[in-house]
Amino acid sequence: MNAKNIPLFNLKEQHESLKTELNNAALEALNSMQWLLGPKTKAFEADFAKLLGAKHCVACSSGASAIQIALLAAGIGRGDEVITTPFTFVATTTSISLTGADFVFADIDPHTYNLDPERIESKITKKTKAILPVHLFGYPANMPEILKIAAKHNLKVIEDCAQSHLAQCDGVFTGCLGDAGAFSFYPSKNLGACGDAGAIITNNKFIADACESLRHSGRSAGKAYEYDREGSTLRMHEIQAALLGVKLPHLQKWTENRRAVAALYRKELKDVPQVKLPPAESAGWSQSYYVFTLRVKDRDALAAHLKANNIGNAIYYPVPLYKQPCYANLKINPADYPHTEYAAKEVLSIPMYPELSAEDVKIVCDVIKDFYGR
Ligand SMILES: Cc1ncc(COP(=O)(O)O)c(C=O)c1O
Repeated sequence: MNAKNIPLFNLKEQHESLKTELNNAALEALNSMQWLLGPKTKAFEADFAKLLGAKHCVACSSGASAIQIALLAAGIGRGDEVITTPFTFVATTTSISLTGADFVFADIDPHTYNLDPERIESKITKKTKAILPVHLFGYPANMPEILKIAAKHNLKVIEDCAQSHLAQCDGVFTGCLGDAGAFSFYPSKNLGACGDAGAIITNNKFIADACESLRHSGRSAGKAYEYDREGSTLRMHEIQAALLGVKLPHLQKWTENRRAVAALYRKELKDVPQVKLPPAESAGWSQSYYVFTLRVKDRDALAAHLKANNIGNAIYYPVPLYKQPCYANLKINPADYPHTEYAAKEVLSIPMYPELSAEDVKIVCDVIKDFYGR
């Protein structure tokens, strides 16, 4: 029995290490009395865009609002269809619905858990206007193929990058491959605010301008009381921007640490036949390891065994979106999504954070090996 508590995420350690800087930045923003769209927000937008090599960043209130704003800015709305994955967090689809568009599911690739490009074309109708891949768990979706399909059918591509900060596909950061990328800075994310926050990344000035307006009541650029569209109140708070500004310079190092933790897990677990590891990285193709997700035999019993040994774990996601009560009216047949069905029954995420020690990784792996009697 392992006595040491090893959590799934560990926000405390990171927060403690930056506490003085975070406190100072928050106070500075508070006392600046520029609480919305002030200098800290502008600085964060410039720095995040620069880090990703993108032309524009528009900060907003959450990852969910980033998806919604990006879709609306790309011209998607009522009567349109958006193809996406059913194996994701519910905000992916609720954000599509909030634009007035309908989501249409395509099944996932069983190895990457991401939208399978081979299943997209059969879902395209006259109403399809966009594809919305999610880089789930931080592993990039197959963007080269998705972009080919989008170009062939004249569709927009909006990337859900809530879990993929600094992941790369063919040497390009996720968020910079499609028409726009939507990021979440929910506290547990690889770059986490101390509350809700998000951002849209794009190289398209037209989309960036529309995003700026949409987050700000639909305001016409440079005009105080003129609105060229209907928007909403979806701005990032200046204090969150200040806190994110403190954390951003550390993101690259934190990502490297996550990759080092992943490498240790791979080394320790590679010979356990009941455990399938996440897809490997390759040249130009790197992942952010938001979570470290295994595919395992006897999943629920292993989860209970880890819990009994004080090791945090979670299932992302136990219920495919088409089975959620809020979508019961859609009467979607689960048999049409066999890879999502299997994944929901077999995936298990184990502790992953930049500060996770090699010693603790070894403990987690020993407990897993112990479960399988090895
Ligand atoms: C895949 C995915 N999409 C969207 C979101 C929504 O982000 P937020 O919680 O910041 O609204 C999340 C975050 O929880 C997510 O994991």
